[in-house]
Amino acid sequence: MQQLHAPLAALDRNGRGGVPMLELRDVTFSYHGANGVVDAVAATSLSIRQGELVCIVGPSGCGKTTLLRLMAGFLKPATGVVLDQGQPVSGPDWRRGMVFQKPQLYPWLSVRGNVEFGPRMRGIDKTRRRQIAERYVRMVKLWEFRDARPYELSGGMQQRTALARVLANEPHTLLMDEPFAALDALTREHMQDELLAIWRRIHGAVVLVTHSVEEAVYLATRILVVSHRPARIVADIPAPFSSASNPRDPREVKSDPEFVALREHVLRYVWT
Ligand SMILES: Nc1ncnc2c1ncn2[C@@H]1O[C@H](COP(=O)(O)OP(=O)(O)OP(=O)(O)O)[C@@H](O)[C@H]1O
Ligand SMILES: [Mg+2]
Repeated sequence: MQQLHAPLAALDRNGRGGVPMLELRDVTFSYHGANGVVDAVAATSLSIRQGELVCIVGPSGCGKTTLLRLMAGFLKPATGVVLDQGQPVSGPDWRRGMVFQKPQLYPWLSVRGNVEFGPRMRGIDKTRRRQIAERYVRMVKLWEFRDARPYELSGGMQQRTALARVLANEPHTLLMDEPFAALDALTREHMQDELLAIWRRIHGAVVLVTHSVEEAVYLATRILVVSHRPARIVADIPAPFSSASNPRDPREVKSDPEFVALREHVLRYVWT
């Protein structure tokens, strides 16, 4: 793996592969709240291309969620611009689906009702949206709980419902904020592989925030390490494992010496 120890300056900060899906150009963001002004994102430029699966890692409170919210259009940059396929982002759009750190579900709707909600709003007919909902509810292994309300679910089950709800919109870009944090180890591994299958199918890109460097190395085509607040990209590291052409057992991948070496390499940036 030639690029593994490439100096930072030599790393490609502008993605590789397809056309740009999402771009941040000189974006900054500050919150004005009870604690006064909190600078959350320092001037950041970044391009995420079609086909990429970008994982963002960095310390708690550094601005990762803020970065995702800017990409989704929930926040407006103080300076700079966010572009979706070249067009300025002016607000949220179902084509850029966001899975939030804390699952946001409609409490009065069942699991299936939540998952069907987006297709219903988009006017998809009942038979078709039932099929879509069934597919994604099964994918996140909640079919048995399809009629349960969110309050009847565990935190991890709520998170899986939220993921199915976003996937049911079949977005071109998926923005995911620690989507697997509340899951047990086995379900997490299952969901990681499901995500890779989804990523290979969708047309755009996936951006995923995680606290697990191992998860980032396993899933990403590219890992962005973010500094302490205000968020600044301190490393942009290509990762080869998820795009390998021959499928391998996840355990075998994670114990591969090259995998372990890349994980340690990324960790060195996270700890400094
Ligand atoms: N709505 C808000 N109002 C004021 N300050 C906020 C708000 N949301 C976040 N912040 C502040 O912005 C900074 C970055 O927060 P953000 O949620 O983006 O961090 P994070 O990297 O996602 O953290 P974590 O890993 O813990 O989820 C923090 O200092 C936080 O206190
Ligand atoms: Mg966060």
